Amino acid sequence: MKIIAITGKGGTGKTAVAGMLIRHLARRGKTLLAIDADPDSNLPDVLGVKIDKTIGDMREFMLQERDKMAPDTNKERLLESKIYEILTEMPEYDLLVMGRPEGSGCYCFANNLLRGIMDKILKNYDLTIIDTAAGLEHLSRRIIRDVDELLVVTDGSRRGLQTAERIRELAKSLNLNIKKMHVIANKVTPENRGQIEEYTKKLNMDLAGIIPFDENIAKFDLEGRPLSELPEESAALHGVGEIVKKMGL
Ligand SMILES: Nc1ncnc2c1ncn2[C@@H]1O[C@H](COP(=O)(O)OP(=O)(O)OP(=O)(O)O)[C@@H](O)[C@H]1O
Ligand SMILES: [Mg+2]
Repeated sequence: MKIIAITGKGGTGKTAVAGMLIRHLARRGKTLLAIDADPDSNLPDVLGVKIDKTIGDMREFMLQERDKMAPDTNKERLLESKIYEILTEMPEYDLLVMGRPEGSGCYCFANNLLRGIMDKILKNYDLTIIDTAAGLEHLSRRIIRDVDELLVVTDGSRRGLQTAERIRELAKSLNLNIKKMHVIANKVTPENRGQIEEYTKKLNMDLAGIIPFDENIAKFDLEGRPLSELPEESAALHGVGEIVKKMGL
């Protein structure tokens, strides 16, 4: 069981990278779970999957029903069965969407249940890939506690790289259990490649790989087409394949 979380500054390409990673990994015969942990969820679109309900919806359900339940209801088992109901099963991977963040009520009860349930669910898979929103707050809510590999996606901008550095510090201060952290440079052009390599070296961060700027991705995005249809020979897809090899996934 390995948990990979993808983070980075807004708009650097986290979801696109997640989508392409899933496409590569799904073929390797491993059991794979994809989790969209961005409240502004768009991983299903990138994967070309329609989803109906989210974990957030199920958490709301539990809170609303809590007082009406018979005292002997096994709440953990009930929520677990609700999560399995909303799990989307694709031929090569399963998908869960976290959905909206908590409202103003007290969510400790539901979140505590969720933590245990997610721990259990993740154990069923060889690999879990989590696409996150910019920032680490969602991880700090600690529904998912342990991350084996944190991938920080940056674009060629100095701010993207500074965010990568900040995330490293934040991970330390939040006491998150992150085993390894790597940087992935995305939307790389021949012009900014040297600078990115130099800067990551200076920050002493492992550069897992470089994904070129790829016209196809921008085009697919505009046309609302999923990256699962991206041509096999696409430069970005190739870049992600190299990362998968380098990381030994
Ligand atoms: N390698 C690439 N080449 C060209 N365009 C790319 C590449 N990667 C991502 N993009 C484009 O950059 C934009 C942002 O990508 P994406 O939505 O994956 O970023 P994100 O980090 O997930 O954003 P958010 O922080 O909003 O979740 C999209 O329009 C996407 O099509
Ligand atoms: Mg995204």
